[in-house]
Amino acid sequence: MTVLTSYPVNEINGNIQVPGDKSISHRALIIGAVAAGETTICGLLEGEDVLKTAKALLAMGIDTAPDERGNWHVHGAGIGGLAQPSTVLDLGNAGTGARLLMGLLATHDLTAHFTGDASLRKRPMDRVATPLELIGARITSTQGNMPLMISGTEQPIPIHYHMPMPSAQVKSAVLLAGLNTPGVTSVTEERSTRNHTELMLSNFGATVNTEELPNGHHLISLIGQPELKAQKINVPGDPSSAAFPLVATLLSPAGKLRIDNVGINPLRSGLFTTLSEMGANINFLNPRSEAGEPVADIEVESARLRGVVVPSERAPTMIDEYPILAIAAAFAHGRTCMRGLSELRIKESDRLATITKGLVECGVSVNIEGDDLIVNGAGGKIKGGGHVKTHMDHRIAMAFIVAGASAEKPVSIDDGSSIDTSFPNFKDIMSKVGAIIR
Ligand code: S3P
Repeated sequence: MTVLTSYPVNEINGNIQVPGDKSISHRALIIGAVAAGETTICGLLEGEDVLKTAKALLAMGIDTAPDERGNWHVHGAGIGGLAQPSTVLDLGNAGTGARLLMGLLATHDLTAHFTGDASLRKRPMDRVATPLELIGARITSTQGNMPLMISGTEQPIPIHYHMPMPSAQVKSAVLLAGLNTPGVTSVTEERSTRNHTELMLSNFGATVNTEELPNGHHLISLIGQPELKAQKINVPGDPSSAAFPLVATLLSPAGKLRIDNVGINPLRSGLFTTLSEMGANINFLNPRSEAGEPVADIEVESARLRGVVVPSERAPTMIDEYPILAIAAAFAHGRTCMRGLSELRIKESDRLATITKGLVECGVSVNIEGDDLIVNGAGGKIKGGGHVKTHMDHRIAMAFIVAGASAEKPVSIDDGSSIDTSFPNFKDIMSKVGAIIR
């Protein structure tokens, strides 16, 4: 346990870059592993979650390692080319790594055992097991949780799967299973979720189509058994990591920050929309595209934020950002109502509960009504002074560190070690721009 305390500061200021996008990093390794040839990845997030995925691929015969400049090389084995794993696949805290790999393995003729840390072992895996069993894989789990065993099928059946929940991980697991399946594998989404898998598969040469249906749902289809060609991938900075220094700047009495090279995929940018509605002025400079992903440099300054209603339809585009949005809402003038957050209960922690308890510790008035989170903004500084339990959740840890930087009194968290899963140099970067974290 690494107790950390964040002390109030007057200024957050500077020019930074944040580490590579976690979602894109997992996908670059996984798709590179089944492409033909050597994929080079620049800016891969070297956080614990992604390193667990690399290690799991290594156990299945995929040679993947960084060079002396930090660029990663993945020697792809081609579609269906993974070998029987030599060890139990321990994905640590990484839900994305676990669920995407389960999808990929579902159509390989091998048997794998998956496990993870105490947080991952509580998270539902039946949401991916259900469609993968329809394809023909056999999965034995502990009541839908890890540890679990998956035996891939040699004779996969192409399925159409209507997703009962908005989840990019479930969609990606089905599409990755579809890679080694003859015919067309497809998924419908009632609400669009991040499309990094679709964009990256297209870049590697697969045929993936997304079509809007008359009822507003989206149909994503993949033609199976494509020949994927190795790529050079530049991973953009993670908008979900940029969110922490960005909100710290908004809340700071004298804040001014530039964050270079951040992914601004519209299916990830709900937080930017919400903060703008709350009164933030966020500028997107030099818009460009990296491997099909929109990227920009972001400039932001201190702002007087006001409470808003965040509609449930927006939740999939900012699903990882509610912890830090709740902090912004706590400092805002008026009430913020975030609607439709049932998916937050099954993240790295039960985030509805951990956010609420943490805010109460810091003197903020907050309540949960059904699946909605309501934060009554302090209209300026929050009291702070709390000791927050993070429950192995990196985003809860970082959110409350940001709260401490602008509160009246310091805020402590019980354990900062989970931060390494997604933002290994968080403390250094926050200190560089003026935060005091000990
Ligand atoms: C992710 C999808 C989201 C998100 C997670 C990363 C991905 O999860 O919360 O951090 O990379 O596909 P769900 O698919 O459970 O919504």
